[in-house]
Amino acid sequence: MKTVILSPQSDKTAMQTAATLIKAGEVVGMPTETVYGLAANALNGAAVEKIFRAKGRPQDNPLIVHIADFQQIYDLCPHVPDSAARLAEAFWPGPLTMIVPKGDCIPNEVSCGLDTVGIRLPSHPMARELIRAAGVPLAAPSANTSGRPSTTTAEHVLNDMDGKIAAILDGGACGVGVESTVVSLAGEKPRLLRPGGITLEQLETVLGEVEVDRALYEKISDDTRVSAPGMKYRHYAPKAPVTAVRGAPAESAAYILAHAARADGVLCFDECAAAFAGLFVVSFGRSDDLPTQAREVFDALRAFDETDVHTIWAQCPSDEGLGLAVSNRIKKAAGFHIIEL
Ligand code: TXA
Ligand code: MG
Repeated sequence: MKTVILSPQSDKTAMQTAATLIKAGEVVGMPTETVYGLAANALNGAAVEKIFRAKGRPQDNPLIVHIADFQQIYDLCPHVPDSAARLAEAFWPGPLTMIVPKGDCIPNEVSCGLDTVGIRLPSHPMARELIRAAGVPLAAPSANTSGRPSTTTAEHVLNDMDGKIAAILDGGACGVGVESTVVSLAGEKPRLLRPGGITLEQLETVLGEVEVDRALYEKISDDTRVSAPGMKYRHYAPKAPVTAVRGAPAESAAYILAHAARADGVLCFDECAAAFAGLFVVSFGRSDDLPTQAREVFDALRAFDETDVHTIWAQCPSDEGLGLAVSNRIKKAAGFHIIEL
């Protein structure tokens, strides 16, 4: 299959072509404000299966369904909890996915045997336009090969998906850079399953106390039942092994300098980059600039794959605000191999 790049900025027919492909049951790379997604008609099980094949995604890992207007949630979910309406009012459109009880129209290919479904209303105009033009909700996981860092540019998507999907809508670089926050509203208490663009602190302003899933902090073995199946798999991983180092920036920089070998690479805060002269260095924002770190972290992790570094040492922010999402991606890239200083 030839993968076509469609550029709505310069080609007026691009969006319609993408929508036609979706209606025909094909998979299209779609920009969102978080990361690129691999989109297919969420109501067509055979189309959704193609997403799993293109990604090499484990069959027990359910997909998020993207809608363009809040009212669409009532078509997909028989009992929308009050909390969902309140969260939507505060944070939709935006980088938040809510897990709610699923309706019968959701095929098993999307929900993978669960009785819940994740719903998200993205803020990216091209994502919403594609959903509207296709006339159906879109199932879309992040547009990376399973296990690899997520994709934040059309070029990243092409690197992983060339020849495997029909087309990629090019919307430029994603603004948030880490995936949506996933919160479950299907249990007794709201539970954070994945930190993302909407912070835990923001969720708590609307929901009160939110439980935090232990998979955020520790490695989950493959045979454990977890709330979000995606959390147990090796994730976001460049080819070289990663060691995450947590602590004040000056301390983590000193630790890495003392331990790194000459063939190693370093993922570091901007102000620490000069200290690592001689090593392969990728910086991903100042230590006090979490939005930049979120926007850059996946591109930075991918950059190491163009090199033959042996080990990647990564500085890691603390868990406040957006730092929880950034550090979670780095810890997972490291397979939870973490040095706490
Ligand atoms: O920002 C995002 O959320 C991006 C863009 C494309 O929208 N999508 C994304 O999808 O990150 P994905 O499939 O890479 O991650 C979805 C996560 C997985 O960890 C999955 O296990 C979890 O959400 N998930 C999906 N449906 C679920 C459900 N019904 N119950 C629990 N977890 C669920
Ligand atoms: Mg993903």
